[in-house]
Amino acid sequence: MSIERAADLLASATRAVAMTGAGVSAESGIPTFRGEGGVWTKYDPVKVSSIDSFMADPASYWQVSRERGRVALAARPNPGHVALAQMEERGRLVAVVTQNTDGLHQDAGSRRVIELHGSGRNVECMVCGRREPRSEVQARLDVEMPPRCQSCGSTFLKPTVVLFGEAMPATALHEAFELAGQADVILVVGSSLVVYPAADVPLAALRAGARMVVVNAEATPFDRFASVVIHGRSGEVLPHIASLIAA
Ligand code: APR
Ligand code: ZN
Repeated sequence: MSIERAADLLASATRAVAMTGAGVSAESGIPTFRGEGGVWTKYDPVKVSSIDSFMADPASYWQVSRERGRVALAARPNPGHVALAQMEERGRLVAVVTQNTDGLHQDAGSRRVIELHGSGRNVECMVCGRREPRSEVQARLDVEMPPRCQSCGSTFLKPTVVLFGEAMPATALHEAFELAGQADVILVVGSSLVVYPAADVPLAALRAGARMVVVNAEATPFDRFASVVIHGRSGEVLPHIASLIAA
């Protein structure tokens, strides 16, 4: 059975790395971007979530981000996040490389989390650099749209996430590819694997000889490279795998 096979690979791994996408947070109530019900099926991602459209009109960005931010700030880790933290705790996982910006891996107890697309937990003024917790900015959105910087008054307050057209955080990228290059197992969870360079991380692990395990609700372009493919919900599959890996 694939779950046993995945557990065997992870139980004998010494440098396993997980890479996660929006699917691992779906069961925490945060909509995914693609796949059924994904938000990008409702509007064009590049249009609303690119640095150009943000600079042109921060208000239209915040109109969309407001709802997603509200949901993400209220979200709690689900059993999938907890299972990954347990695997790290038991020495079965070196790190989680994530495309998510919701901070739920950290909330679940994962200690080494590499955020390739930044974090939605903070907001930064692009004019004076002042940072504020997203929760404080979120609280002002009912009366201040777009939100204004509390220091310089600019309306160019942006969550510390990577928008389309922005450079990826170099340190996170470097660390992710270094870990992938040394991995013996790469566990890919909840990602459609269509956005680069994030999708290159599991490919770098494969090139370094790692075995790939894919856990996803739907087929992915990397299924054909994987030693194990499990199509299911991460909130059910990951705890099952973790339960089979001896503590
Ligand atoms: N369990 C496992 N997989 C799931 C679940 C679930 N409960 N629910 C959905 N999925 C799968 C979907 O089938 C889909 O293949 O998770 C995947 C989510 O894919 P995307 O929504 O494309 O998310 P992701 O791969 O993280 O997107 C990458 O694109 O828009 C940008 O910056 C954004 O980080 C994001 C990047
Ligand atoms: Zn400012």
